[in-house]
Amino acid sequence: MTVSPASDPSGRVVAGRASYLVVHNTSEVVTPDATGMRVVRYPRGAVVFRDGRVLEIGPGAELLRRHGEARPINANGRLVTPGLVDCHTHMIFAGQRAGEFQRRIRGESYAAIAASGGGIRATVAATGAAREDALEKNLAARLERWRANGCTTVEIKSGYGLTPSAEIRMLELMRGAVQRVPLRVARTALLLHALPESHAGRRDAYVEEMAAVVLPELVRRDLAGAVDVFCDPVGFKVEECRVLLARAKALGLAIRVHAEQTKRFGGAKLAAEMGALSADHLECAKEEDWRALAEAGTVGVLLPVSALTLRERLPQAKMLRASGARVAIATDFNPGSAPAQSLLECGALVARLVGLDAEEILLALTWNPAKALGLEAQVGHLTPGASGDAIAWECETLEELPYWMPAVRADTVFVRGADLALPAVERRVWP
Ligand code: NIG
Ligand code: FE
Repeated sequence: MTVSPASDPSGRVVAGRASYLVVHNTSEVVTPDATGMRVVRYPRGAVVFRDGRVLEIGPGAELLRRHGEARPINANGRLVTPGLVDCHTHMIFAGQRAGEFQRRIRGESYAAIAASGGGIRATVAATGAAREDALEKNLAARLERWRANGCTTVEIKSGYGLTPSAEIRMLELMRGAVQRVPLRVARTALLLHALPESHAGRRDAYVEEMAAVVLPELVRRDLAGAVDVFCDPVGFKVEECRVLLARAKALGLAIRVHAEQTKRFGGAKLAAEMGALSADHLECAKEEDWRALAEAGTVGVLLPVSALTLRERLPQAKMLRASGARVAIATDFNPGSAPAQSLLECGALVARLVGLDAEEILLALTWNPAKALGLEAQVGHLTPGASGDAIAWECETLEELPYWMPAVRADTVFVRGADLALPAVERRVWP
């Protein structure tokens, strides 16, 4: 995944004593361990950041005493966790499709709406008609909303361009937007999303064009760290996806798959077989698909708002646990299937609909999505050496995180060890 150096605020904004701080007087500090296998809790704990990274985590009174030189930040009895990681969004787009949502509520299927000129292609048209500076500004505003909601790492996919040059342009605009926002962004090129009209009946030519023109550009210009495909009857066939993903892998790019969304179609097994970082959606996956993901070390990503919006089912916790797979939760933010703007709210939904407990939800919002981005060495946990990305939440216990709806708000967001102010407008308008 590409992480923009320009999004690193530690060098620009923070200097001297401000880059050495101790967050203390917490109710508890809770984090996955470095392996992501278990959750560790430090009642009345503290966490020390230095030069953008976690220096130490442990008992509050002791750390405060030993780090007398650090700037103390009083958490006022709040819960502190790692910053959340949203590993699946389609955040760069124009317009909205609320009308389609109404059609679906009245019973039309996602596939029928797509076939009648709506769906992904409607957003491609709206995005193509938007001014580039508006797209970039809008994206930056969205990223600020994510930060206000407690996300410190966000993945963004291209995918509403559908031509080589338009997809590349989306990735460039992402790079521009990220420079305005102190957040870590991972860019993904979603290259097989929908077949444009121009290629009707020429599917193989489209796959070849994306592979031959876009993939080398991604590598040459460091535009994206991963490539994604929509493996679905509404999107692309397993064999088409395999061709593109194999070419991406050969160039050293990580791969990810939208799998088993509207139908069980073979995407999960393809992801496992090809060593994808993640297989996402999985509403129609079976237990054997989850077992294949577990064996391959591929993260299974649940997108609860997409499942709800398309009126599909989510898997149950018992089966997920038995499979041994790593489970992440993401917003899938997009105008068609998931107008979801709070990752923590998605966690609250999964707790209720899937049956994961508070510790499992925390893992699914931090370490596991970091692994889906190939970033688990740096983010998703507060172990020494990790990036100083943390949230002091407006609640006291871990169990409250998936409990309150609307979701608990972030009081303070630390990105690379810096507690930069949150956008005032978000503090006022967000629930
Ligand atoms: O993840 N499944 C494909 N892509 C999106 C939906 C995109 C759209 O409907 O605009 C998803 O659900
Ligand atoms: Fe998606």
